[in-house]
Amino acid sequence: MTEFILSENEFNKENIPWNGNRFLTGNGYFGIRGTLEEYTKENMCAINMAGIYDRAGDAWRESVNAPNPLYTYVIINGRKYALPHNKPLSHMQTLDFRNGVHSRRTEWLAEGGIITVKCERFASMSRRHLIAMKYTVSADFECDVEIVTGIDGDVWDINGPHFVKMQTSYKNNVCYVTGVTGEKSIAVNVREAVKPDFNTDETVINEERCICRHFSLKTKPNVEYSIEKIAEITSSEDDFEANDNIERLVYSELKAEHITEWERIWNVSEITIDGDDEAMYAINYSIYHLNSIAPRGQKGKSIPARGLSGQVYKGAVFWDTEMFMIDYYIHTEPEVAKTLLKYRIETIEGARQKAKEYGLKGAYYAWESQEGGYEGCSDYNVTDVFTGRPMRTHFRDKQYHVSAAVVYGLMKYIRGTGDYSILNEGAIETVIECAQFYRSLLLRYADKPYYEIHDVVGPDEYHERVNNNAYTNRMAKFVFDIAIELIEKFEKEYTEDAERIDKKYDLAKTRTMLRDSSENIFIQQPHEDGIIEQFNGYFDLEDTTVETVRSRLLNPKEYWGGAYGVAAGTQVIKQADIAAMLSMFRNDYSVEIMKKNFSYYEHRTEHGSSLSACMYALLACYTGDADTAYSLFMKSAKADLTKGGKEWAGLVYIGGTHPASEGGAWIVAVNGFAGIEETDGKLICRPLLPEKWKGMSFKLMYRNKLYAVDIKKGKAAINEI
Ligand code: BGC
Repeated sequence: MTEFILSENEFNKENIPWNGNRFLTGNGYFGIRGTLEEYTKENMCAINMAGIYDRAGDAWRESVNAPNPLYTYVIINGRKYALPHNKPLSHMQTLDFRNGVHSRRTEWLAEGGIITVKCERFASMSRRHLIAMKYTVSADFECDVEIVTGIDGDVWDINGPHFVKMQTSYKNNVCYVTGVTGEKSIAVNVREAVKPDFNTDETVINEERCICRHFSLKTKPNVEYSIEKIAEITSSEDDFEANDNIERLVYSELKAEHITEWERIWNVSEITIDGDDEAMYAINYSIYHLNSIAPRGQKGKSIPARGLSGQVYKGAVFWDTEMFMIDYYIHTEPEVAKTLLKYRIETIEGARQKAKEYGLKGAYYAWESQEGGYEGCSDYNVTDVFTGRPMRTHFRDKQYHVSAAVVYGLMKYIRGTGDYSILNEGAIETVIECAQFYRSLLLRYADKPYYEIHDVVGPDEYHERVNNNAYTNRMAKFVFDIAIELIEKFEKEYTEDAERIDKKYDLAKTRTMLRDSSENIFIQQPHEDGIIEQFNGYFDLEDTTVETVRSRLLNPKEYWGGAYGVAAGTQVIKQADIAAMLSMFRNDYSVEIMKKNFSYYEHRTEHGSSLSACMYALLACYTGDADTAYSLFMKSAKADLTKGGKEWAGLVYIGGTHPASEGGAWIVAVNGFAGIEETDGKLICRPLLPEKWKGMSFKLMYRNKLYAVDIKKGKAAINEI
């Protein structure tokens, strides 16, 4: 079995934010940033809770970070040794991403000799509310050691503080911290049991937002002294019982059980690439992240755009989930994909309210969706770097394509699993109401034979309020067509329930209306030179390069889009837009058209979103150009392995992990390079491997069956397991 190890072998203070992301561990219930045990909020330390949100005052609503039970440091002969303050003699941070285990080893030169701190920890994959940690201290000289360990409730917040009440206590060897949020009085409870493997006195110091135990000992040279900590995090929002007796749990047993669970996950999800270790490492690292944030066994949750790496992007769910991530889950753990879709189905009321708010019909899903479908996106979502003032943006009100992404995700799920029963669990309403929403956007000029959609922000966010964005119109047509198809299926399969749905929506009338919408919506067609215009008037904009636009920036953090952005009056775009449309509807276009548009738009794309490279990579695969696809694929798969990703939109911090890019890389590997397609209920494989890949193998769930795909020298075999 190939080891999957990510490590950094020296200490670099500048890397603290990036390491917090790339060394992340998680289990879908929470994500633990890859920070060190002695870190506090100044070092972006966070245990980010899935699906729990709070609003403090007028600030943006965001996800909540739990009190931190990993907080630990060491005092030697009365002096504290902690990073980043004390320069280490050596330092190593490691993520074993096959087993989901984070570790560190740090040496400091103290007055009497060298002291060494080691720590290993994991977010239990088998018991989702648990974190386990083993912290070890040794010195090569005799000294007085104090290990300080506890729960730090003074958490890092971007728009906090969220815990308006906090209680710390100690009873029967267990430390407790409960934080209660201000908006909805949600309690986040943390408790921990600690076992030292040496004789010591324990002193507990209980402060307002922190409770710590102090263990003192006199060390013998080169002997290791360890504490094992088992911590449990729960919340008043949980839909599961967490009643383990944490005092009785044993670190090594929990670790073994956790690794077994990871083995089960990898058994289905690992991708093997023969001839390219770097690509194999990167794609499996991407898969690791997708696995660490999957809301397995949890209801009402989806995956935020920055996974569980913090409060970035308000911990909100974007179109990223249905467009880029869900494919991976459909084909490895379909129940997770269903959970993601159920989140949308169950939050339809929020989408209905949003449509109403804009005088539209049906379901207009939130651009930044929080619990209950609450729209987290504000009208002023970027801060102007020059004035420090909030800048009017139109992500919230004009990015209509989000509802289509929900339907697209649902359709992929149905095609990949054959599970139509979801229609009868609310999905049919979702589809119909998304179609009603697009219908209500249609406009028709008196002298024009077709419907248009005006005043839109497409996937390329730099051009706001445009008319007939090719992507949005094509997606609207897709929704109309799918709604017709699924209504017909529903009427056939669920006769009794169809009556109920018919009463609500008048299905015959709805179908007629959808047919009319689909047949008459304006779809941008290739011009004479084969290029499809991204929106009306795009070709009239200044035709310049990404570099020229970049050179016009007066401030590196300046926002490129919006009314005055440097890209707004040019053909330079943020991310795949036409390219996304072409790769999604590849059967509508010839390879020639795809090629021409790839080269026209790719040169004009900043790739300012991590969602961009994978879409272009997929399109390159569909044009038969695996080598061009390769570098874009690597960019996507290495989004969290590469330093220097985009961290700012205006003055808003947007760093964090990039699960959509990771999911996109998976799509490129499987649908692009391996050429997996489904036709008439069957999987087929038409591989187009990059030059240096000699072969590729992986497993795939398809319609309730697990298949092994094996590609060697251009030949492919798909066998049911
Ligand atoms: C992209 C959006 C994306 C969001 C969250 C933005 O930068 O333009 O398409 O949904 O990030 O990943």
